[in-house]
Amino acid sequence: MNKHITLLFVAVTLLVSCRSNNHTYTRSEDEMNRYITALMHQMTLEEKVGQLSLPVGGDITTGQPRLSNTAEDIRAGRVGGLFNLKGAEQIREVQRIAVEESRLGIPLLFGMDVIHGYETVFPIPLGLSCSWDMEAIERSARIAAIEATADGICWTFSPMVDISHDGRWGRISEGSGEDPYLGARIAEAMVRGYQTDELSDSTSMLACVKHFALYGAVEAGREYNFVDMSRYRMFNEYMAPYEAAVRAGAGSVMAAFNVVEGVPCHGNKWLLTDVLREQWGFKGFVVADYTGVEHLHDNGVSPDHRSAAIQAIQAGLDMDMASAAYQTLIDAVREGRVSVATIDKACRRILEAKYKLGLFEDPYRYCHPERRALVRCPEHRQAARQIAAESMVLLKNEGDLLPLAKKGTIALIGPLADARTHMAGTWSVAAVHEEYKTLREGIAEALEGTGARLLYAKGSNLMYDAAQEGIISIFGHDIRDNRSAETMRAEALHVARQADVIVCAMGEGSESAGECASRVHIELYDAQRDLLAALLQLGKPVVLLHFAGRPTVLEWESAHVPAILETWFSGSEGADAIADVLFGDANPSGHLTTQFPHHVGQYPFSYRYYRTSRPNTGGTFGKYSTCYQDVSTYPLYPFGYGLSYTDFEVSEPTWQAQEGDAVGIVSATITNTGNREGATVLQLYLSDPFSEGVRPYIELCAFERINLQAGESRLVQFTITPDMLAYYNPMGIKTIEPGEYQLRVGLNSRDLSEPVIFSL
Ligand code: NOJ
Repeated sequence: MNKHITLLFVAVTLLVSCRSNNHTYTRSEDEMNRYITALMHQMTLEEKVGQLSLPVGGDITTGQPRLSNTAEDIRAGRVGGLFNLKGAEQIREVQRIAVEESRLGIPLLFGMDVIHGYETVFPIPLGLSCSWDMEAIERSARIAAIEATADGICWTFSPMVDISHDGRWGRISEGSGEDPYLGARIAEAMVRGYQTDELSDSTSMLACVKHFALYGAVEAGREYNFVDMSRYRMFNEYMAPYEAAVRAGAGSVMAAFNVVEGVPCHGNKWLLTDVLREQWGFKGFVVADYTGVEHLHDNGVSPDHRSAAIQAIQAGLDMDMASAAYQTLIDAVREGRVSVATIDKACRRILEAKYKLGLFEDPYRYCHPERRALVRCPEHRQAARQIAAESMVLLKNEGDLLPLAKKGTIALIGPLADARTHMAGTWSVAAVHEEYKTLREGIAEALEGTGARLLYAKGSNLMYDAAQEGIISIFGHDIRDNRSAETMRAEALHVARQADVIVCAMGEGSESAGECASRVHIELYDAQRDLLAALLQLGKPVVLLHFAGRPTVLEWESAHVPAILETWFSGSEGADAIADVLFGDANPSGHLTTQFPHHVGQYPFSYRYYRTSRPNTGGTFGKYSTCYQDVSTYPLYPFGYGLSYTDFEVSEPTWQAQEGDAVGIVSATITNTGNREGATVLQLYLSDPFSEGVRPYIELCAFERINLQAGESRLVQFTITPDMLAYYNPMGIKTIEPGEYQLRVGLNSRDLSEPVIFSL
C-alpha cells in the first residue's frame, strides 16, 4: 500500500540523514524538498486540500476521539491539523488516527492559543511588554513552549504583534502597545523563545505572527471594524513588528479579520504575497483566522464560500481555520477556476512545516507525558513571578506610601481581591485557574509570621449593572455577589475603619479586555469608583492596585488616590508578584508601552504623533493651534513612563561621531540616587526636524533596561547606525535622508534631555 511505501521511504531517509540524538535532527533543504515531492506525488487532490484544513478540536474534545466525525475526516485525509485540544494523551490518540488510519499516514499539526504562557501563565502581553525586558520576554515564550510541547502542542498562535493606538480596542491587551520599534524587538524575542534555532527540538514550537495586518487600527476601536490608512503610515508605524517576526524566522502568519486598502486580509494578494513573501521573503505558511475565509462573504466581496476560498488561496492564504470553505477548492480545481499548482504550493508549505517540526520523523515527538513534570514547575513559576513584578507600572506614589511595611492592619478591598479566575487574564486557554492564588491569598502568605493583620471585604461587584457584568462573565469568570451595593459597601467601610492602610484591588474583569471586548467607557467601573470614593473619605492612606487589560482613564483616581500600581492581569503567579511589589520585595520597574489618556476622546492616541501645521505648545488650549478646548493634548501618563521605589538621574547626553558603519555614539550616565536597588529603562528618541515626508516629533529608536544598586552609576552608550535613521518616504521607499538629526534620552517620552544634534 502507498502508506507503507511512504513509511519505508521515511525510514530509509531517516537512516541516511538523522542525527543520532533523540531531540533534534537536521536535514538539508534539498532532502526536505525531495521528501515532500515524493509524498505529494502520492497524494490525491482531496488529500492535498485536506492538508489545508484546520478544524477546531470540536467533537473530539467532548467525546471519544476515535468515534468522532473529526476522526472520520482525519482518516479520510481531510484534515491538516487541529487546534485548542489539550492533553498529551488525547493528542497522541488523535495523531495515532492520522498516522495509522489514514491512507498516507501524514501527521497532524496541533495548534493552540498559547498567548502568554501555558499553565504557567505570564502577564498579558501588554503587561509583559511594559517590562521592556527582552530576555525575560524570550524566556516567557521559551517556558510556554516547553510546557505546551510536553502536552502535545507544536504550534502556537502567537506572537500577536498588532500595534494599537486605541485603548477602546479590547485586543490591545494581546499586543505590545503602540510603538513599532519596541514591538519589533518583542516580536523577535517571542519568535526566538518559541522556535529556538532548532524547530525540530521536541521543546520548540512553531510561532504564528498575527494578525496580518493592521488589526490594531480598527476604526473607533470597535472590534472587527474597517481599517483604512495610507501606505505611508502603514509602513512607518504598523508593519515593523510583523516584518521583524518574519525575518526572525516565524514559521507561520495568521491573516487578520479586517480589511486593508479595501480588500479583506484573507483575500488580499498584495498583503499575503507581494509584501509578505516577495518583499520580506517569508517562507512559511499563512493560516486564516477563525472562519476568516468565510468572512469574505460577510465583507461582501465573495458571493459564496467557493469564491471566497478561490480568492483566499489565490491571494496566498494556505490554510483555512474552522470552516469548510477550502473543501470547495476540490470542485474549483475540477472546474478550472484554481490550478493544481496553486493547491500544491499551499500544501507543500504546510508539509514543510510538519517536516521542520520533525513530525514525519516522530509524529508523537510532542506527546511526552513524562515531561508533564515541567509544566508549572517551581522554576517556571519563579520566572513568571519575577516578570510579573517587572511588568507592573508604578503610576503614582505620593509621600512614598509604597512599599508598605508588613505590619499593622491592612484592609484589602475590591472585587478583584479574591477573584481567582481573573488572575490569569484574557486568552489563557490552558490555564488551570483553580491552582492559582487569589491576591488575598498571596498577600496573606506574604504577611505570614509578621504579626500584620489582613482584613478583607469585597466591597462591590465589578459594576452595578448585572447584565453588563454578565457579558464579561463568560468562561466561568463569574464572581458577582448577590448582596446589595449598599450592604457590600457598608461592610467594606466597616473593615476599612479598622485598618491602618487600605489596599484596593479594582479594575476591569479579565474578559473586559481581549477579543470582542471593545469599550468606550474605559474608566473604573461605576460601582468601584463609588466604593473607592467612599473609602478615600475615611482619610486613611489608600493604595490602588489596578487590574486592566488596556490603558485606562485614571484621571479621577490619579487626582485623589495617593498610590497607584498598574498590575495588568499578571498571570498564574500574579498574586505573589503583586505582594512582592506591594511590600517592596520587588521594586517596580515597568514602563508604559501604551500611554494613558486623560479622556477616551483622545483616541487614537500615541506619543509618536506627527508634526502638524499650527503646532501646540504646552498641551493646553491655544487658539488656532492643534488642541482640544476641553482636554489636554498630552497624556495623563505618557509612553515610557513608570516610577520606582528609588530615584534615577540621567545626565545630559553627549555625542561622538564615528567613522565606518556607525554614525556616532550617544552616551549618558544614569545614577541611582535613591537608597535601594532598582531597575529602569533608559529610552532614546530620534527626531528628524526636516524631511521629505512628515515625521513624528519623536520616535523611539533604542532603549536599555538597567539595574543599579543604590548610589551606583552607569555609562550607557547607544551606537547609532544609519538604518536607525531610516523611514519610508512618501514614495514608499525606505530612505535615509541627509540633514540634521536630534537624539534625546529620558526615562519616559515626555521628560527628555536636551538633544544632541548631528548631521548626515
Ligand atoms: C480568533 C482570534 O482572532 C485569533 O487570535 C485566534 O488565534 C483564533 N481565534 C484561534 O483561536
